[in-house]
Amino acid sequence: MTRVLFVCLGNICRSPTAEGVFRHHVTSRGLNHVIEIDSAGTAAYHINQPADPRAQAAATQRGFDLSSCRGRQASRQDMHDFDYIIAMDHDNQADLRHLAGSEHENKVSLFLEFATLIDEDEVPDPYYGGNNGFDRVIDMIEEASQGLLDHIEQQIK
Ligand code: 4NP
Repeated sequence: MTRVLFVCLGNICRSPTAEGVFRHHVTSRGLNHVIEIDSAGTAAYHINQPADPRAQAAATQRGFDLSSCRGRQASRQDMHDFDYIIAMDHDNQADLRHLAGSEHENKVSLFLEFATLIDEDEVPDPYYGGNNGFDRVIDMIEEASQGLLDHIEQQIK
């Protein structure tokens, strides 16, 4: 099993979207039985809460389902359990590296490192913006998901 954890700040906008989009592509490639996916937040603001209604609406429109996501906070145990710990922005990455410590910090990457066609480092936080911020987030996540999945497929071949 390869275990992938997507992490943002609140675990209600970007990382649930990443979980839903990535799961969709894992399923399309027939890799469900070898890749496990989850998401979490660095903060404890939205424990047990569903994804933001704007994130769910944008995802549904593009054919992704986020309805089963519930907010949780990333833990030290996660740093041990997951193989890929995928941060949406530099703040998430720094927090996760700290949580992971020297033993696991090499598992932490920025999601957009896997997006070959995007010239930015961070998936921007759409929480305080308008609805079109969520569409842009999905575009970025789609591109990075394909890249990450290509990478993992190479590794597990
Ligand atoms: P996310 O967005 O990190 O993409 O889930 C946010 C959600 C909530 C807050 C910040 C960002 N907040 O401050 O409550």
